[in-house]
Amino acid sequence: MADLDAVQDTKEYYLDIPQKSEAFYLKGSNALGWGMQNRLARIFNPETGRTVMLAFDHGYFQGATTGLERIDVNIMPLAPFADTLMLTRGILRSVVPPSMTKAIVMRASGGTSMLKELSNEEIAVDIEDSIRMNVAAMAVQVFIGGEYEKQSIINMTKLVDQGTRYGIPTLAVTAVGKDMVRDARYFRLATRICAELGAHYVKTYYVEKDFETVTASCPVPIVIAGGKKLPELDALKMAYNAIQQGAAGVDMGRNIFQSEAPVSMIQAVRAVVHQNETPEKAYELYKTLKAEA
Ligand code: 5RP
Repeated sequence: MADLDAVQDTKEYYLDIPQKSEAFYLKGSNALGWGMQNRLARIFNPETGRTVMLAFDHGYFQGATTGLERIDVNIMPLAPFADTLMLTRGILRSVVPPSMTKAIVMRASGGTSMLKELSNEEIAVDIEDSIRMNVAAMAVQVFIGGEYEKQSIINMTKLVDQGTRYGIPTLAVTAVGKDMVRDARYFRLATRICAELGAHYVKTYYVEKDFETVTASCPVPIVIAGGKKLPELDALKMAYNAIQQGAAGVDMGRNIFQSEAPVSMIQAVRAVVHQNETPEKAYELYKTLKAEA
């Protein structure tokens, strides 16, 4: 039986302090459930509303690409500097220690290799397995204008439905076919379709012209992929421009893990994303950290 001796008669109800009812800080996410918002808060830092996602899921269609030959050696040292890891379940279970508490964004589509038509994907991870892995979100490729456009969109809507049952957000990754024009018009179309059909946030590429119209017309947060490897200063400029034009973060792979100094580079990217650091100052930081390493 509980010990009643310590029960006190005086109580403080703070009658003059109304209970706070806070709006959720993330664009377009206010009406989501608690679990969904909590997972998004593990991805997007509540202090800045932004995220540095480290993407190393490329092996799901490319195999051991440059920089990802040994994820235990090359990528795990970067994890402490990322807000979120984007990866496959195979790598999660074989390489990532469960003591690592970073938010996991699970690659949940697949089924093709770079030797075939990439848009011919399906959902490749069961929702129950995503729950077992305690993921913060699931990622699915959407090929607007691609050969299997409809199939990839339906993959996304199915994942949104499954995730909604359990409070797990879906990241729609807009994938651009080799022959397609990467411009703001295309990305406005692709991101908006993903958001309209339920994606909780959308990954896209940065474009030099009118990128702010892409972020403005997408009702949920946008993160940018890094794309092919650029010189470090150029990659930092791209991240800076995207953030200043409304992106809520980066989901960057090759421009970090193929850098000459990946641990320094991810810290420079963080400075741009979370501290609004200019690309020039972030590049100085990169060089200083690289010299010290
Ligand atoms: C693969 C992906 C990658 O995660 C994405 O392309 C990010 O990596 P990078 O910055 O190297 O482009 O979605 O399909």
